[in-house]
Amino acid sequence: MSAPKLTAVPTPQPDRLHIFDTTLRDGEQAPGFSMTAPEKLEMAHLLANLRVDTLEAGFAAASPGDSEAVRIIASEVRGPTICSLARATEKDIDAAAYALEPAPRKRLHVFLATSPIHRDAKLRMSRHEVLMTIERCLDHARGTFDEIEFSAEDALRTEPDFLIEAMSCAAAHGADVLNVPDTVGYSEPDEIYRVFKSLVENVERPDHVIFSAHCHNDLGLAVANSLAAVKAGARQVECALNGIGERAGNCSLEEIVMALQIRADIFPAVSHADATHIWPASQRLSRITGAPVAPNKAVVGKNAFAHEAGIHQHGMISDRRTYEIMTPESVGAPGSSLVLGKHSGKHALAQRLAKLGYQPDPDRLQRVFAQFKAAADEHGEINDADLVAIMEGYSASGSQWTVLRTELRTTAGRNPKQFARVELEHPRRGRISDIASGDGPVAAAFAAVQQITGTQVDVISLETRMRANDAGREFVADIEVEIDGRRFSGRARGPDIVTAAIDALLFTLDRGEAKAKAESQQSRPAHAV
Ligand code: KIV
Ligand code: ZN
Repeated sequence: MSAPKLTAVPTPQPDRLHIFDTTLRDGEQAPGFSMTAPEKLEMAHLLANLRVDTLEAGFAAASPGDSEAVRIIASEVRGPTICSLARATEKDIDAAAYALEPAPRKRLHVFLATSPIHRDAKLRMSRHEVLMTIERCLDHARGTFDEIEFSAEDALRTEPDFLIEAMSCAAAHGADVLNVPDTVGYSEPDEIYRVFKSLVENVERPDHVIFSAHCHNDLGLAVANSLAAVKAGARQVECALNGIGERAGNCSLEEIVMALQIRADIFPAVSHADATHIWPASQRLSRITGAPVAPNKAVVGKNAFAHEAGIHQHGMISDRRTYEIMTPESVGAPGSSLVLGKHSGKHALAQRLAKLGYQPDPDRLQRVFAQFKAAADEHGEINDADLVAIMEGYSASGSQWTVLRTELRTTAGRNPKQFARVELEHPRRGRISDIASGDGPVAAAFAAVQQITGTQVDVISLETRMRANDAGREFVADIEVEIDGRRFSGRARGPDIVTAAIDALLFTLDRGEAKAKAESQQSRPAHAV
């Protein structure tokens, strides 16, 4: 008897998930994120490196500036399909056609609200009028673009039967992508899953037409909702870098891309985005818009690959997979850092000291550990430069400069100027004082400090706050500066804002100085101390 024939069962291949980037449209239109045309172009190149499938470059009819930005991106950026948003009017569609004209592949994204609240309060249209408008606009657009996307604005608050009717109407009149926006971030994963399932099953459409999710983050659910939509059959997700967008923002590009990549075992679709370009693009966006990324932001926050707690650091030293589900390299971030702070253990301290070339004996290590904990309590994070300062016997706070006196003066008149005289003392350089002016007392004091120390500093951010303590109240200043193209941060307390800010600045100057020393020590073999 011959052996039974085995027929190979083909493993089902996951579908393609299209990444539609709206950083430069929904993201850019939100307060605090506006960009000039050259800035948008720079970001568009970075997004193209990330290999997003479609890049929504702007809303051509919104302003001549927006039209120009879309047109420049359409002329110069290659790779993604370039898209412009348009309201459901012939005029908007023509503006999009003009701006997109130089693009090798162009997509029109036309939207019209479908929910009862938008129909009644904003559009003053009946259901029938909404359907007629969709028909008229899509018929007008047909033949001018390579792809047409239709968005039913506020889809998640639209009557289910009417949403199916509106989407079927758009598909019948030439829409290739049916976008289902949760415009006000109102939905939750189970609900949005059911909505997409029902649309996939009931909307009449040609085979090539796909559904798209566009989720806002008003309840912090944009990424979770987008993933639920993918599970239900959506094959495009609209997202923005750093999650920027109207109000609480859009589904974050970095989170959706990494969730699909890391949990490819549970999602039915894969994106073709190149995640290794995420970090530089996110950093650049933050610098261009001046909107910092929260330290605890998933994937791109400065703590995303930082470990401070002793137990976590011990695990990371043994095997990084204990506390990291993705590597920093996979998103283009600099290597993981074991941040030394008040929660760190002696094990991590000894390991970092060894990297810097120090091998203290157990007694010395014990003493250094105590100094390190005191400095961490005072300043938060302790970096290599601070450790060198401790090992080399700089003051426990890490700063070599002491502020002896600060005097502030404001001139009278319509345009008052602020002056600061600052006197500092240094163990080797002695007492030095200088006077400088600036836009405000802190700026003037900082200018004087830079004149005294001879170090040029670019202040990236300065945050001050008051807090109550046993003695009454104190001020805390957190600062981030750039010295010779490198970032340093510091924290200091003081009896008033200006003193705390100057101390925080001096601390970062010492960090900058000690950094060079730490780097030269990194390459040397460890020596017993
Ligand atoms: O949130 C929204 O509804 C939109 C549409 C224009 C797609 O941004
Ligand atoms: Zn939106």
